[in-house]
Amino acid sequence: MFAFKLVNVGVAKRTFSSSATVANGVKVAVLGAAGGIGQPLSLLLKHNKSISHLSLYDIVNTPGVAADISHINTASKVTGYVRENDGLKLALTDSDVIVIPAGVPRKPGMTRDDLFNTNAGIVKELAVAAAEFAPKAIMTVISNPVNSTVPIISEVYKKYNIYDPRRILGITTLDVVRASRFVSELKGTDPSNEKVTVVGGHSGVTIIPLLSQTGHTFTDEELKTLTHRIQFGGDEVVKAKAGTGSATLSMAYAASCFVDSLLRAMVKGEKGIIEPSYVKSNLFNSDNIEYFASNVELSAEGVGKVHPLGKLSAYEKDLLAAALPELKKNIAKGAEFVANSK
Ligand code: NAD
Ligand code: LMR
Repeated sequence: MFAFKLVNVGVAKRTFSSSATVANGVKVAVLGAAGGIGQPLSLLLKHNKSISHLSLYDIVNTPGVAADISHINTASKVTGYVRENDGLKLALTDSDVIVIPAGVPRKPGMTRDDLFNTNAGIVKELAVAAAEFAPKAIMTVISNPVNSTVPIISEVYKKYNIYDPRRILGITTLDVVRASRFVSELKGTDPSNEKVTVVGGHSGVTIIPLLSQTGHTFTDEELKTLTHRIQFGGDEVVKAKAGTGSATLSMAYAASCFVDSLLRAMVKGEKGIIEPSYVKSNLFNSDNIEYFASNVELSAEGVGKVHPLGKLSAYEKDLLAAALPELKKNIAKGAEFVANSK
C-alpha cells in the first residue's frame, strides 16, 4: 500500500566541519546489506573513517552480517535490522547517506530491464521509507535497472514533497572502473592512471565510454571491441557466474569508492571531487531526457555541478544517438510505475 504522509522538510542543511572525525562522522544506511553486493560493500564501508554509524538493513540475515562486521577494529558503530520491530524505520532514522543494493540480480539471457518487475517494487518501498524516516539523507542507488530506479525514487520523493534532485544519485562507478581496467589492459598502463569518462545510463547501449577523451589513440577495431566490452561488461560477469548472480565484488569496490568520494565532499568539504553519476540533468532537455549520467562534481548536498560531456568523436555521437531513445523509454517506465502505484 502506497500511503502518503506529510513530512516537514526544507532543503537539507548540513553542519559538518572541515575537520570532521569519526566522533562526528556520518550515519550511512545500506539497504540490502546481506546480499552479494551488500556484504562486501558494508565490509569496505567499515573502513571508512568518515562513517561513525554503519546501519545495515535487509529482509533477511542482517543481524548476523552486522554482528560479524561489528567485530572489525575500526571505530564506527554497526547496527543490523530486519523488517520486524520497525527495522526499516530504525535503520533509516538520522541517516546522512543511504545506499540501496537491494533487489534481484540478472541471470544469463536477461537484460537489466527484465529485473524491473521485481526491483521497481523493492526500490519504491525503500524510497517511501526513506521519504518518511530520512528525508534529508542523500540517496544513492545501485539496484537495477538504474536507468529506471532513479526516476522511481525521484517520483516517490515528489509525491512526498521532499524532492531535491541534488540528493538522488544512481551509482554508475562500475562502468568507469571497468573502462579504466580494460583500457589499461589494452595499452599496458597502470589502471589507476586511466581516467575514462563514461556517460549516458547503466545498461547496454546506454553506456557510452568517451574513449576519445582518454588521450590514447585506438584503431577502429580496438574502439569497437573496447566500447562493446565496456557496454556489456556486466554480461561478461553474469555469464561467468552461470546463473548465480551478477557483479558483486567489483560493484562493492566501485560503490565504496563512490561513497568515499561523496563523504569527502560532504564531511570534509573537499572541492573538485568528481564521480560520473546518473542524476537529474539538463544536458538533454531538448530531447526530453530528464536523467543522464555524466561527470558530477559532488558537494555537501550530493550533486554540486553536472559537467557537460565535452567534445565527442563522430563514433561517440553515434553511440549517443543510439542511447537516447532507450534511456527515454527506461526513464518513462520508472516514472509511470510510480504514477500508476496506489
Ligand atoms: P543479491 O540477491 O545477492 O542481494 C540482494 C539483497 O537484497 C538480498 O540480500 C535480499 O534479501 C535483499 N532484498 C530483497 N528485497 C529487499 C527489500 N524489500 N528490502 C531490503 N532488502 C531486500 O543481489 P546483488 O548481487 O547484491 O545485486 C543487487 C542489485 O544490484 C541487483 O539489482 C543488481 O542488478 C544490481 N547491481 C547494480 C550494479 C550497478 O552498477 N549499479 C552492479 C551490480 C549489481
Ligand atoms: C553490472 O554492470 O555488472 C551490473 O549492472 C549487474 C548486471 O546485471 O550486469
